[in-house]
Amino acid sequence: MTVNEMQERIRALKTEKNVCVLAHSYQGREITEVADFRGDSYQLSVMAAKTDAETVIMCGVRFMAETVKILSPGKTVYLANPTAGCPMAEQMDRELIEGVKAQFPDYTVVCYINTTAELKTVCDVCVTSSCAVKVCSKIDNKNILFIPDCNLGKFVAGQLPEKNFKLLQGGCPVHAAITVRDVETAKNAHPGALLLVHPECVPAVAAAADYVGSTSGIMDFARKSEAKEFIIGTENSIAEHLQYDRPDKRFYTLSKKMVCENMKATTLPDLLNCLEGRGGEEITLDPDTLKKARHCIDEMIRLSE
Ligand code: 13P
Ligand code: SF4
Repeated sequence: MTVNEMQERIRALKTEKNVCVLAHSYQGREITEVADFRGDSYQLSVMAAKTDAETVIMCGVRFMAETVKILSPGKTVYLANPTAGCPMAEQMDRELIEGVKAQFPDYTVVCYINTTAELKTVCDVCVTSSCAVKVCSKIDNKNILFIPDCNLGKFVAGQLPEKNFKLLQGGCPVHAAITVRDVETAKNAHPGALLLVHPECVPAVAAAADYVGSTSGIMDFARKSEAKEFIIGTENSIAEHLQYDRPDKRFYTLSKKMVCENMKATTLPDLLNCLEGRGGEEITLDPDTLKKARHCIDEMIRLSE
């Protein structure tokens, strides 16, 4: 089967079975082309809450499929490739955070959406990279315990000096691996290009950037900017999507290291197999987890509107 034939089969099955396919922007082109919606973590959560389809297939990583299930517990939700997990989401568990909470009882616990559903049950509010500053600014408490990404936490804390942030040592292995040396190498190779980076990068890399924002923030900035050349400091698929969207501009990757093996685990055949009932994993969460984890996602949507 060719890529085109497989995409046609997928489109036909989606209609026949009333299935909505959601794809994170880090997915490959062949998948985003057949998805009903492509977006960043925040946009995917909003779409998950809105879709009328009875079944949703997530082409992304496990915490994203869990978020869909939490927001739409009556729907059947699949993760297209069950091996696609986010290493950051596994860094901190419920027991660890319950212990930290006991030490800091007067702190509001803010968790990045890149956490397990189980961990969300003991957190107060959730954030994504695109709404973290806004949500934290609206929290009615000066003291914020921000988990698990300390780089995103430092970025948000830098925007909100009136708040008192406590951070733990977690983060994204893909973004945190980028060094100032990588930035110098990329800038030397493309001296006229603007540098756009994700806030999961270390503060020294973010400080060298012309723009810091979520995947959608980076894409919007690059599309609207008058500039013609950009170095993209997030997962390398974003540079590729931008190059398709704006062939008149040039997009360079900040480093060849910026590949998330987990985001790249899902293939077009995985999506087809899931639609045909011989692949993927149905996400199930117990009622107590669904109820408690939903509270912090609902709070995120309420505070970010
Ligand atoms: P956003 O899509 O919120 O920018 O997050 C990036 C990411 O690393 C998702 O895993
Ligand atoms: Fe997790 Fe980083 Fe991959 Fe996003 S890019 S899924 S945060 S490991």
